[in-house]
Amino acid sequence: MFNLESIVRPNVLRMKPYSSARDEFKGVASVFIDANENNLGSLAGENYNRYPDPHQKKLKELIAGIKGVKPTQIFLGNGSDEAIDLLFRMVCRPGQDSMLHLPPTYGMYEVSANLNEVELEAVQLTADFQIPVLEVLKQVKDTTKLLFICSPNNPTGNTIDPESIETILDNFDGLVVLDEAYIDFADSPSWTTRLEEYPNLVVLQTFSKAWGMAGLRLGMAFASEEIVALLDKIKPPYNINEATQQLALQALQHTEELTYMIEEIVQEREMLIQALPTLKVVEKVYPSDANFLLVKVKDANGLYAYLLDKGIVVRNRSSLPGCEGCLRISIGTVEENQQLFQAISDFKI
Ligand SMILES: Cc1ncc(COP(=O)(O)O)c(C=O)c1O
Repeated sequence: MFNLESIVRPNVLRMKPYSSARDEFKGVASVFIDANENNLGSLAGENYNRYPDPHQKKLKELIAGIKGVKPTQIFLGNGSDEAIDLLFRMVCRPGQDSMLHLPPTYGMYEVSANLNEVELEAVQLTADFQIPVLEVLKQVKDTTKLLFICSPNNPTGNTIDPESIETILDNFDGLVVLDEAYIDFADSPSWTTRLEEYPNLVVLQTFSKAWGMAGLRLGMAFASEEIVALLDKIKPPYNINEATQQLALQALQHTEELTYMIEEIVQEREMLIQALPTLKVVEKVYPSDANFLLVKVKDANGLYAYLLDKGIVVRNRSSLPGCEGCLRISIGTVEENQQLFQAISDFKI
């Protein structure tokens, strides 16, 4: 049985969070000389001389409306990478606990595990990049606190079979972190719709991909109110800066443009899925529900270097077990995709 208190680090349960100047003041005031800010103004303009809202209230209300969850079920991080790191710090005791991930997958789970001195367990995805569920459940130890599933998976692009995820959620007593960074490009519904059913589920999403806001660093974690309260307790107080909060509030008013951009990216993805296999050097284009393609080619290192020489940077994943001979290619603009296609067709093996 999943029991949140029993997996949270005792020091996290015991500690008091930082209390900011604005947290302690309640009421109406006109003179704010409580936070050692510069009351004369800001060299950056706007009201950047003031600390941002540590609770991101307005932003969470808008996101809650769009995502169909309560504001208290949302944690906002400085990118979803911050949420990943805080989840480690929330439940994994350094030098004692472990995490399980499913390579080939997103690299930050491993980096965060190493940074936090958490033992790394790995179960390789199957040849079609699905979860070998029984093997995963066999690998779980008493000390396994986190299990990362990325769907659609980076770098493979495929959505993970929902039944496998259900079986893991039903049988694993730690936190299942379901990373949905690319969910906006997929047809399947988000697992945020299943939060009430699974108290051990944490869903990660980000503004870095479909929303086009990678430079602003804004990630979301959706979970039970209890898990969100613990993440809020241990986060740096002002982790989402004022510029990001303001710009995200503006962006959230333009959801129709988001839909158009997603449609165009998906259309270009499908075009490349048809076109690339006609080229001699391309052995296989894997199915993708994301904004990138995993492409198996005849001479991955040679093609990678050749494209670089032409000023085109793709991601060489050929040394990753399970992705031998593969390049990962993000979907670009119509012109960029044409340029890529032309360059690959000119490549001589
Ligand atoms: C699967 C996955 N999760 C998370 C991230 C990081 O997102 P953020 O920019 O919100 O930190 C990425 C970025 O590439 C990713 O591929």
